[in-house]
Formats: sequence, C-alpha cells, structure tokens
Amino acid sequence: MSLTFTARIEGRRIRCRIGTDRPLAAPTFCFSLMAAPAVVSGGTLVRRVAGYAEVALPDLEPGQPHEVVLEHANPDYAPRNRAWLPLGAYLRVGRDCLPLPPGNDLGLRTAEGPPAPPLTPDRLPLVPQPTEWQPSGGTCNLAALAPVTGLEAVDDLAVRLGLAPLFAPGGVALTVEEDASLGPEGYRLTLAPTGLSVAVGGPSGLHHAGVTLLTLRETCGGRLPCGTITDRPRFGWRGQHLDCARHFFGVEFILRLLDLMALLKLNRFHWHFADDEAFRLEVETQPLLWQRTAFRGEGELVPGVFGGGIRAGGSYSRADVARVLARAKALRIEVLPEIEVPAHSHAMVRAVPGLRDPGDNGGEVSIQGYLDNIVNPAMPATWDLLLPLAREVAGMFPLGLLHLGADEAPPGAWGGSPAVAALKAREGLVSADDVQGWMLARLAADLGRDGIRVAAWEEAAKGCQGGIGNGALLFSWTGQGPGVEAARRGHDVVMCPAQNAYFDLAHSDDPDDWGAAWAGFVPLERTVAWDPVPKGAEDIAPRVAGVQACFWGEFTTWDHEAEGMIAPRILGIATKGWEPAGRTDGASLRALAGAYAPLFDRIGWQRHRGA
Ligand code: ACM
Repeated sequence: MSLTFTARIEGRRIRCRIGTDRPLAAPTFCFSLMAAPAVVSGGTLVRRVAGYAEVALPDLEPGQPHEVVLEHANPDYAPRNRAWLPLGAYLRVGRDCLPLPPGNDLGLRTAEGPPAPPLTPDRLPLVPQPTEWQPSGGTCNLAALAPVTGLEAVDDLAVRLGLAPLFAPGGVALTVEEDASLGPEGYRLTLAPTGLSVAVGGPSGLHHAGVTLLTLRETCGGRLPCGTITDRPRFGWRGQHLDCARHFFGVEFILRLLDLMALLKLNRFHWHFADDEAFRLEVETQPLLWQRTAFRGEGELVPGVFGGGIRAGGSYSRADVARVLARAKALRIEVLPEIEVPAHSHAMVRAVPGLRDPGDNGGEVSIQGYLDNIVNPAMPATWDLLLPLAREVAGMFPLGLLHLGADEAPPGAWGGSPAVAALKAREGLVSADDVQGWMLARLAADLGRDGIRVAAWEEAAKGCQGGIGNGALLFSWTGQGPGVEAARRGHDVVMCPAQNAYFDLAHSDDPDDWGAAWAGFVPLERTVAWDPVPKGAEDIAPRVAGVQACFWGEFTTWDHEAEGMIAPRILGIATKGWEPAGRTDGASLRALAGAYAPLFDRIGWQRHRGA
C-alpha cells in the first residue's frame, strides 16, 4: 500500500495532507511536534503526551487526501522552520502501524551558501588559532612524520578520519624537548626548512602539537608556512554536550564526535543520556530504569515524543561505555555523565514506582508539556533509587564529577504534595527552589563522602540554603548572567549560553532551515560574538572553568542529522575555549570555516553551508 503525507507552515498553523491508495477505517494520526500540539480541524485529539499527539481521523478513501490542520497549544509558539513540522508521523489502523513519509523533506539542507571570504595573511588555517604565530618566511613540506612516541593517538586519529597516516617510515623527523614553563597543555612548535621541533609542557602539549601538524598538513596541502607557533589554552574546560536521551545516538556516532572534538582541541564530552524520554545507561542498581525506557513508541511506557515514531531507541551497555572511555582517553578527553534530576525525569517516574507523592494534586506542567516529570524528594523511594544510582554512574567514569541536572523544574513543582509540605516545615524550606536546592545539596554531600564532585545546570544555585553548594560546578545556559551570579557566590562555572553555544538552535531565520528558536538563531558568527568572562564581570575570571557547546536531540531522527547542526559551529566553541579573548571575530571565523570546508568534506562530516 502507498501513503502520502505533506506538511506546510501557514503562519501559526501547520497544514497536513494524508493520502492513501487503499481505504483505511478510522485511522489514528500519531506524530510529535516541538511542543504540545492542538488540532484546529480535520480530526479529534484523543491523546497527548508533551509534544506527542494522537488524532482520530475519519475513514480515508483512495484519491481523496485528508487535511488536518494543527497548531501549537501554547499561543506563543509559531512554527519557525521545517523542524517544527510533525516528526515521526504514522497512522495506527486497528493493530497495524503504517509509517508516513517525512512531511516536507525533513532534515538539514546542505545547499552551498555564498563563498567564504579568504583568510587574512596573518592567520594560519587552524582552529583554534594559536596563542602566538611568528612567521619566518618560506614553506616546509610535510607528508608524514617519522614515528614519534606520544603521538600514536594522533596517527590513529588521522587514519580513522580517512586522512593519510601521520606517521610513515622516512617521514620528517620531529624533535621533542620538555619545557615545563609552557604549562601542561602548552607547546612551542618550530617549522623550518631544516626540520621540525617542538617543546612541550607535558604529554597533552605534545598531543596538541601533533593535532596542529596534522591539521596544517591538511589545510595547507602539505606545504606548511615556516615559523614558530607558541600555544596554550585559555580554559581547561572545552566541552561539547550531546543529548542522547531524546535521540539515541549510536556509539559509532559518539566516537566520531570525539574524533572531531580532538581535531579542534576540545577536551570534555558531556554525555546527556537521561531525560524525560529515556534513561539509556545500563545501570545495575536499578535495571528497570533503562529496561523500561530505552525504547519509546507503540507499546512502550513513553510514546513517540519528538522524532521517536513507531518505535525507536537503545541503551548503552558497559561495553559501550568502555569503548567511549577508551577513545576519549586516547584523545585526552574526559567524559562527564549526567543523570538529570529532579525534573526532566518523566521516563524515570514512569519506570520506577514510588517516585511521586500519591497525594500530590498539583498538576504542574513542564516546559515541554509533561504532567509528571519531576521526582519527589519527600518520597523514600526517590532516595532509595538516587543515592546508589548516582554513586554507580559516577563510578563508571574516571572524571570524578557527576552532573545531576537540575534544569527547568516546572512552575508549581511539588505545590500539591503533602509530603513535600511536611518536608518544608521540617527543614525550613519555603519555595520549590528551596526544595530542589535542599535535595541537590543532600545528593552532593552524599557523593562528596566518596570523593565525587557534582555539577549541575545553573538553576542548582537557587534555594534559601545556598542551593546545591558543596563546591558544585555550574553550567550557565540561559545566558551568562546566572553564571556570573553563581561565580560571585563561589561556584566554578562553565559558560554555555544558548544564544551562542546551543547547536540545536537554527543557524538562521530561513523557514527552510532546521532547528529550535527559543533563544534566537545562532549563525556561525554568533558562536564567537561573546566573551566567557563578560565585560564588567572581570572579577569572575578565576571562577570560569571554560566553555561548552550543547546539542539537544529533540528533533533528530537520524544520527547524521546532527552533523550539520554541529559543523561548522563547533569551530566557534573551539575558538572560545582556547584562544585569548577577542582573537577571532565572526568574519575571521567565517574565513576559517571556508578553510576547513574541504577538511570536513574529506573526513565525511556534513556541515551547514548557508550564510
Ligand atoms: C537546558 O537547556 N535545559 C539545560
């Protein structure tokens, strides 16, 4: 049988047309939007879970396409581009589920935009730009190095990326010496017609020098300009986050992302494997968590919210974690796991009994439209789950840091819970922020007894008793203001302002583009149009651990769709994490993206090509 499906944006509305070549008796139209949908005409809404909806349709007849008009239930939301059209759409007819074709050529377009401007002569075709570059004139050839102890991982990286090996018998010799004054990640690389030499502050410095040589070989076509590069990072935390809960990214994709990060000297991978839609880590303390939520869709606890469709998902085994950690270690990347509580926990609440107060009549709604996405800290089952879970997850990763989550507690959280009312009275808490802060501080203190430090999103700083406290590392995501405030209250912070560093936001306002828009659009230039230590807040500099880009997977259906959202914008976060303030502006970054375009193409990583 053959089904047709088109979806079109018309102002606030989405006009869908469904056609069939066979009569279909009373089908149900199942799909997800970016946020809670409403039906304007053409069917009756019979079920809704966050962005997922089921709409009862009349009988469909061949040759008579049926029209359903949708909009977002929140009157403030209007579809901005194709990512806002129905995702994972299918028809349920009796016991059968029939996938509908993508409504409007979903996924990122890759049409070539205007050509990038040329690089100015003072710049190397290298991201991040080195701290200092002193050209000495002339060029030297580099096809390969003679093997160098300590650069094996860079040679392996080159081969995995599909580039020529870095090492070859008879290759150019690189002499290595130590110079502790360069700092643990620093190096000084001298490129001369007579040979290559490097002074390094430590093994990481040598690794970065190797990455620089590999990159310049590729971007300079094997003829490197002669001179001296003196280089060291501005920040120790240079991160990329990946939301593997909304979309299950295969381990191979994660490994490829680590390779790309290493090529840009990024050194922290924030693994977000738990959220409302799934908990994907195969933990032993509570197997129900992943066994019951790894897949979502028909017959599962969580329906096809976002691009889930009929059934999609997966979980990460201990062997998968070991592969990710082995690759990360070779590339000098640390992995930060996140368990995401107390909110964004719909999957956790559905999978494990007892995490909500049965007497709670509050009816709070999360920003994504869930009615029950926050665990209750006054329930003993919550602690029975979380204390061992947090310790187990932290113990699986060598970083010694566990991200607890703490973002976006729904307004009115726990307001109808008699058990939380009693907790508030007992502990002197007033607001929901106080309750969340108390809960996070208790978790943090418990982990601290095992030597585990905690991290969390910016909201964790709230609360009458100082919020999470306990030396937590906080991630400032709604902007930089919360990071500045948290730093002034004594927290170390990672700056990941959505306006500059959220790679799930659309690159542009073109309705033919792809991505979210809640914090505006993030063209390549905007990824460098900020300072991690904002003007007027220079006092927080010692508290800024670094920067991070985030990629949220709500509207990703296939792994490769993330590539063009991440590239070339990942060049911007690499720039911010490494370079001295103000070194690279938007125009220069655009030129550098032009210099990297053939390299992205050679390593097979899709990139957004528009302006
Ligand atoms: C977030 O983007 N909710 C951390």
